[in-house]
Amino acid sequence: MAAGKGRSPKAWTWIAWPLGALPLAWVLWQGLTGASGPDPVAALVNALGWWALVLLLVCLTMRPAARLLNVPALVIWRRTFGLWMFIYASLHFLAWATLILGWDPGRLATELSKRPYIIVGAAAWLALWPLALTSTRKARRRMGQRWVKLHRLIFLALPLALVHQFWVQKSGFGESLAFLAVALVLVAYRLRGRFLPGK
Ligand code: HEM
Repeated sequence: MAAGKGRSPKAWTWIAWPLGALPLAWVLWQGLTGASGPDPVAALVNALGWWALVLLLVCLTMRPAARLLNVPALVIWRRTFGLWMFIYASLHFLAWATLILGWDPGRLATELSKRPYIIVGAAAWLALWPLALTSTRKARRRMGQRWVKLHRLIFLALPLALVHQFWVQKSGFGESLAFLAVALVLVAYRLRGRFLPGK
């Protein structure tokens, strides 16, 4: 079933914008009302990083979901969720640099060069920049096949973000394993065409 009788899937694009904003509103609400726990700053940094990773996986889910559920609009949502993922990752970095390090150049330099989990997180974030900067339809049209190749950077950002998430876990790895399992299924689906002829 196509999304919406008689309406182009493009008509549904806008829904992804408020949907992507909902977690941010929730995270900010929790912080402002004191519901995020005894360390609201750490909770904010963690929540923004968590949503960035979830949205990264959501982006990779859009194409298989569009195909399996026959809802083409989901592919169009991928771009918006991709931009939201970049926004969450950037807010995650900004919250950390501002609220935890106070933009202290010495501390920033130390963290970004000496802490492996920060280096991996920063590498994941850097890999997202070219994707965000070329996310417009104009860039896609102008770049053609190069755009497709460049956007494979998502498969570099994904393992880096997974390692980063795994590294910061302090109490058990259940969530890391769940993220890994979802990522493996999505990558396997993506690669299936290479191993199964006709897919
Ligand atoms: C310069 C870039 C980044 C920096 C400096 C950074 C820093 C941090 C810090 C300080 C934490 C909290 C660690 C703790 O609780 O001890 C964290 C957690 C996390 N970060 Fe990042 N990060 C960066 C990029 C990213 C990116 C690009 C993603 C995902 C796309 C990401 C996803 C996560 C996740 C999932 C967590 C754990 C959240 C949780 O367990 O609730 N981070 N990061």
